[in-house]
Amino acid sequence: MSTPLPILKERIEDYLSQSLATDVDQATLKNSMTYSLMAGGKRLRPVLTLATIEMLGGTINDDMLRAASALELLHTYSLIHDDLPAMDNDDLRRGKPTNHRKFGAGIATLAGDGLLTLAFQWVTDNHLPTDIRSQLTLELAKAAGPSGMVAGQARDIEGEHQHLSLNQLRYLHRQKTGALIRYAVLAGGIMMNQSTEVKQELAAFGENYGLAFQIYDDLMDVLSTAEEMGKAVHKDAGEQKNTYPGLLGVDGAKEQLQVALTAARQNQQNLEKLTGKSFTSYDDFLAYFK
Ligand code: IPE
Ligand code: IPE
Ligand code: MG
Ligand code: MG
Ligand code: MG
Repeated sequence: MSTPLPILKERIEDYLSQSLATDVDQATLKNSMTYSLMAGGKRLRPVLTLATIEMLGGTINDDMLRAASALELLHTYSLIHDDLPAMDNDDLRRGKPTNHRKFGAGIATLAGDGLLTLAFQWVTDNHLPTDIRSQLTLELAKAAGPSGMVAGQARDIEGEHQHLSLNQLRYLHRQKTGALIRYAVLAGGIMMNQSTEVKQELAAFGENYGLAFQIYDDLMDVLSTAEEMGKAVHKDAGEQKNTYPGLLGVDGAKEQLQVALTAARQNQQNLEKLTGKSFTSYDDFLAYFK
C-alpha cells in the first residue's frame, strides 16, 4: 500500500502545525520558529522517510511521523542560518521575507538553534524501540553536523575564494545537501529494522538523489525565477559560489544531473531485487527534475 505523496505531505504539515507550539516557551522565539517552519516548504525530506517506510511494507504511526517530522525542523534551521547576512545574505525564502528580515539576526539565529535542538528532542522523545531511537539520533547527528551538512556549508563559504575541481564540488554538494537527504531515506530503513545491506542501498539512493537535488538547485538559480522558487535567483555567480553550471556550464550541469539520476535509478532497482518489493514511489521523487 502506498499513500499518494501529497497526502503524506499533508500529514507532515498537520503534525508540524499541531506540535511545534507546545515545545517552545518564549513568545518571540515561538513566532519566529513557526514563521519559517510553516512558510510552506516542499517537505521533501520527511515525505521521503514516510514513503520509504510504506514501500518497505510498514504502516506509518504517530511515533514514525514525529521522528520523520524532526528532519523538517532541522532542515528549516539550515535554511534560516543559510540566509543570514553573514552567510548567503538573502531576503526571500519560501516566498516570504527571510527570518532575519522579519525578526532580526539575533532571534533568527536562536530560531535556528531552537529548531535544530528540538529536532533531536522529537527523534528521542517518542515510543519507538530504544535501539531505533539511538540509531536515528546517531545518523542524524552525523548527517547534520560537522561531518555532514555543517562541513558542506563551511566548504561552501570557503569556496567563495577558491576554484574547486569537479570532485571537490561533488563532495561539497554531497555534504551540504546530500547528507540530510541520505538520512531521510536511511531513517525509513532504520524505523523498519532493515538489514545492513538494505540500509546501505537506501542510503546510496538518498546520496545520489541528494546530489541531483543540489545540482538542480544550482541550475534553477540560473534558469528559474524568484516567483517560481520563492527565493532569490541569479545570485550564485555574483557571490562567487562554486556551482555545477558555474564550473561546467548549463549543459554540462544537466549532464551531471543525469549521471546522478541514473545512479539513483540503479539503487532503486537494486532495492527491488534485494527486498522483492516495489519502489515505484521513488519514480514520483525522480520526476521532480524536469
Ligand atoms: C532548499 O531546500 C535548500 C537546498 C538544499 C537546495 P528545498 O528546495 O527542499 O527547500 P524547501 O524546504 O522546499 O523550502
Ligand atoms: C543550501 O544551499 C544548502 C543548505 C544546507 C541550506 P543553497 O545556499 O544553494 O540553498 P538556497 O539556494 O539558498 O536554497
Ligand atoms: Mg548557501
Ligand atoms: Mg542559500
Ligand atoms: Mg541554491
